[in-house]
Amino acid sequence: MTTPTLLSRRGLTLRDVVVEDRSALRAMDMQAHGNVWSHATFARVLAAEEFRHIAVVPSTNRGGVDAAPIAHAASWRDGHIGRIVNVAVHEDHHRCGIAGAMLEHLIASMLAHEETSELRLEVRPRNKPAQLLYAGFGFVPTGVERDFYERSIGWGSRDAMVMTVSDVNEPVWRSGFNTRLRFTGAA
Ligand SMILES: CC(C)(COP(=O)(O)OP(=O)(O)OC[C@H]1O[C@@H](n2cnc3c(N)ncnc32)[C@H](O)[C@@H]1OP(=O)(O)O)[C@@H](O)C(=O)NCCC(=O)NCCS
Repeated sequence: MTTPTLLSRRGLTLRDVVVEDRSALRAMDMQAHGNVWSHATFARVLAAEEFRHIAVVPSTNRGGVDAAPIAHAASWRDGHIGRIVNVAVHEDHHRCGIAGAMLEHLIASMLAHEETSELRLEVRPRNKPAQLLYAGFGFVPTGVERDFYERSIGWGSRDAMVMTVSDVNEPVWRSGFNTRLRFTGAA
């Protein structure tokens, strides 16, 4: 897996999540979303070919596989829909472009499969930072998913805002995404 220039300049490496990451990612998700994946979900995401689960770690001499993640994100190829199913960055590393770099990687990897024609994700209605992140990739609000979130206390509504890129083959969107990859060194 190639680490985008933006991350390597910061001494960070992009790699696949491994089973040993589970406790660090649970702690990060609890702080970031107030929700954690069950052991079964974590194992399913690691094992299934339709899922990608990536982490950003401080670079080490051994290539980063032994370092604890400071961020992670996952995607799921659900037929023709490419879904972003989790994104979290440790709060000490916000606003350094890490989430953007992970999204670029996951979206490019889903677009490598020809059947992917649409991108979709769910986000909390009050989570403006995440909505702005996704809007930067051309996602637009397209609906509401009722009772999407199990936990609401302290996190606002249980409903999710659905955000979509409705046609990844639309030339303006595609060219904007490809330009972004070249600019950030991800392509
Ligand atoms: C949302 C989150 C993933 C963003 O991660 P990040 O690595 O800080 O984001 P990036 O640095 O890649 O930011 C990319 C763009 O997103 C938007 N953005 C991110 N954080 C923002 C903030 N706090 N306020 C406004 N815009 C923000 C900006 O447009 C930013 O581009 P810019 O810095 O050039 O203005 C991070 O804040 C986080 O982990 N939050 C808690 C978990 C979460 O909400 N996950 C998403 C669930 S759907």
